[in-house]
Amino acid sequence: MTTENSEQVLAQARKSLSEAMRFHAEGKLDDAEEHYLQVLDHRYRVEDVLPLVAGVAALRGRFEVAIIYWDQLLAMKPDHLVGLLEKGTIQLKSGDARGAVESLQTALRVSPDNPTALNNLAVALVQADRQHEALEAFRKLATSQPENVLAQHQIRRLTSRMVPFWHIPMLNDARRNDAFEAAIAKAVQERGSTAPVLDIGAGSGLLSMMAARAGATNVVTCEAVPIIAQTASRIVAQNGFGNTINVVNKVSTELTVGLDLETRADILVSEILSSDLLAEDVLNTFEDAHARLLNEGATIIPRSATAVGCLVESEVLSRYAFVGDVSGFDVSAFAPLAANRLPIHGTMTDWKRLSADIELQTIDLTRPKHREEIRVIEIPVTANGTAAGIVQWMKINLADGIEFANHPDDYSDGGWLQVLHPFAKPVAVKAGSMFRVVAGHDRSSLILMAAPLAS
Ligand SMILES: C[S@@+](CC[C@H](N)C(=O)[O-])C[C@H]1O[C@@H](n2cnc3c(N)ncnc32)[C@H](O)[C@@H]1O
Repeated sequence: MTTENSEQVLAQARKSLSEAMRFHAEGKLDDAEEHYLQVLDHRYRVEDVLPLVAGVAALRGRFEVAIIYWDQLLAMKPDHLVGLLEKGTIQLKSGDARGAVESLQTALRVSPDNPTALNNLAVALVQADRQHEALEAFRKLATSQPENVLAQHQIRRLTSRMVPFWHIPMLNDARRNDAFEAAIAKAVQERGSTAPVLDIGAGSGLLSMMAARAGATNVVTCEAVPIIAQTASRIVAQNGFGNTINVVNKVSTELTVGLDLETRADILVSEILSSDLLAEDVLNTFEDAHARLLNEGATIIPRSATAVGCLVESEVLSRYAFVGDVSGFDVSAFAPLAANRLPIHGTMTDWKRLSADIELQTIDLTRPKHREEIRVIEIPVTANGTAAGIVQWMKINLADGIEFANHPDDYSDGGWLQVLHPFAKPVAVKAGSMFRVVAGHDRSSLILMAAPLAS
């Protein structure tokens, strides 16, 4: 190309650039993009123009094209911070959370602690369902920007998603804690202080600390949820048991003897009973522990748990369980979509007993294996009324002579709630008759329903 020619090209490129910028300023984005592309055709100020054309394409909603422009820039300048940030943000907007995470992590390698990169990375990690890493990113952001209330809010929001609300009332449940401590202390005394203790489901580390306080010198506890495990480690160390208790951030089924535990344990302590007994996967967890993690004849705390309940009538609870006419419309077809169990506060909810307490289902946790169970139980009715369902609670046997129950007459706002198992529809019952319920479990949930009437 002659000098004259190249000067003409340069002049043309400059003209296109100035027109592109005018269109851009006027909001004529399609014209602006077209003219920026003409500038790029001349290979004129490529590194300055690519960000502009990428920005215009993104404003026009042409995310894929915008990413192509950013990629062209990043191929030339892999550490281009704006390029990485913008590419990540566009990927986030267009639903490519994984791609966004990658771009924003690279941006953070270029500029550690960059608040935009940290914030957008945290959002992308939430979208990619990587909640714990998202929490770490928001925490880092909040450390560098203590005034950032949105980051504080996200930390609490994510934490609340990972840590069920009942941890705190459970920890404040002195009756529960004392019953476990009595059983743990008894086991440590009987087995000796060097007997290996396994605590499945550390939570705050409370039960492990009870074992250590009773003299146990070899305690391993596992916790599936990373943020809970980290917190347990901190609490255990703060209380001076850092050398006695080893907190492992694993689900118990992934523990390995020889790696996480030196040997199989002689004492198992584990409080993973849900209000309706089985929902925290206690049967699979204990079966696995018996098979792989415990010595034969190990002391098991708790030894068993029994679902106890009674037939109830309650206007309040019926309003949660059944629906018929509403504002003059028949919406009864919605009734079968009602929850099959409702947590309730026994001492606070207004309900009337229609039967004595009856044992509905026991799980013997010292047994190595469990099968689904189902049977019909006859409940003697003690008062006339309309049964909404069965209110159920738990009786836990922790050791010889050590029991705990969250009976609804005298227990509220502790670690467990009582549970209403509503029937499919209200059932009229008469004092002196027998009410038949189907009771049992499918290994992960309690089954309780009104038995079909014999024809
Ligand atoms: C009901 S809390 C009890 C916490 C503590 N042991 C206490 O009694 O205060 C149960 C804890 O166990 C954890 N968890 C449940 N099943 C687990 C398992 N199989 N392996 C490890 N952690 C488990 C839960 O994440 C939760 O933090």
